Amino acid sequence: YEAQIDAADMEKGTYAHYMLKEIDEQPAVMRRLVQEYTNASGELEVDEEITSKLNNSDRVYIVACGTSWHAGWVGKKLIENLTATPVEVHVASEFAYDMPIISEKPFFIFISQSGETADSRQVLVKVNELGYDSMTLTNVAGSTLSREAQTTMLLHAGPEIAVASTKAYTAQIGALAILAKVAGVVNGNENAVAFDLVHELGLVANAMEVLVNQKEIIADLAQEKLSTTRNAFYIGRGLDYFVSMEAALKLKEISYIQAEGFAAGELKHGTIALIEEGTPVIGLITEEVMGSHTRGNLKEVESRGADTLVISMEGLEKEGDNIILPKINTLLTPLVSVIPVQLLAYYASLQRGLDVDKPRNLAKSVTVE
Ligand code: G6P
Repeated sequence: YEAQIDAADMEKGTYAHYMLKEIDEQPAVMRRLVQEYTNASGELEVDEEITSKLNNSDRVYIVACGTSWHAGWVGKKLIENLTATPVEVHVASEFAYDMPIISEKPFFIFISQSGETADSRQVLVKVNELGYDSMTLTNVAGSTLSREAQTTMLLHAGPEIAVASTKAYTAQIGALAILAKVAGVVNGNENAVAFDLVHELGLVANAMEVLVNQKEIIADLAQEKLSTTRNAFYIGRGLDYFVSMEAALKLKEISYIQAEGFAAGELKHGTIALIEEGTPVIGLITEEVMGSHTRGNLKEVESRGADTLVISMEGLEKEGDNIILPKINTLLTPLVSVIPVQLLAYYASLQRGLDVDKPRNLAKSVTVE
């Protein structure tokens, strides 16, 4: 059960920070993930016990904290789209004390990079008492949550040392996509059958590579928009909203800028009062129809003085957009749109002279409730 760790994985090498190394590793992690879940005949494969538990369930409950919880929201979209099973996503610390009504045949997915988070474990203990089916998606083989859940899927991302999670987030989404695809195919789900995930994740890895090579552009944008600000907003709709939440968390964790990830359309219902001359508002646009509405919301904040930055996907870009993401499948956009926002947080922290890898008040894994 001991985790296999290569000593070289624990070293920074020529990198100034683990976080930057881990951001750069993401294309390789994505390719390795696909390999790890590909069988001898070249097809994606997931432990049959897991796919049958998922397919026998009437509802999936994802339980997690922090960045893993944000990956869970993307997982909901993937699982619902490719298996047609409804999914609920819960913050572990809320779930533990105020359990919602549970369906007849639930399947619990615990997402935890470390596999040691106490809040999540507390829910798993209850789930076991109640005899429900469960799986842990984790980066650490033999971790507490892995041992105590009925089944485990591993991220194979290699050790993540920086407190701010990066490669675990993308590996979690990649693994959830693989789980959803394989379970969907077993069930004959049309969307799953038609989805060439191996090919699409290959494109994702290539796109990630393009983006991690745009460090200078992104460092300049961080300098221009985030170096002195007290607060910032990320906005988006659909999957872009989920990435906005993660983007804001990254920024808070390591740059200490007060940041919020907001559903673009909801901003005007109160929060827009916070927009002043020069407030940075970063818009994510990876989907055509929702994206055009987000552009409308960006105009609204611009007219109130906001300093906007637009991250859009190839094919949807407009003159003046700041970062263009290579085009990839609409279900998988968080895997690429998150790369520039990770880098924006990294450079904002660096430029403010802060401790990127070990931010104040935070721990890599929180083993108290
Ligand atoms: C801590 C870390 C976060 C992480 C969260 C969940 O708060 O600082 O970066 O997302 O725990 O950790 P887990 O290991 O359960 O994914």
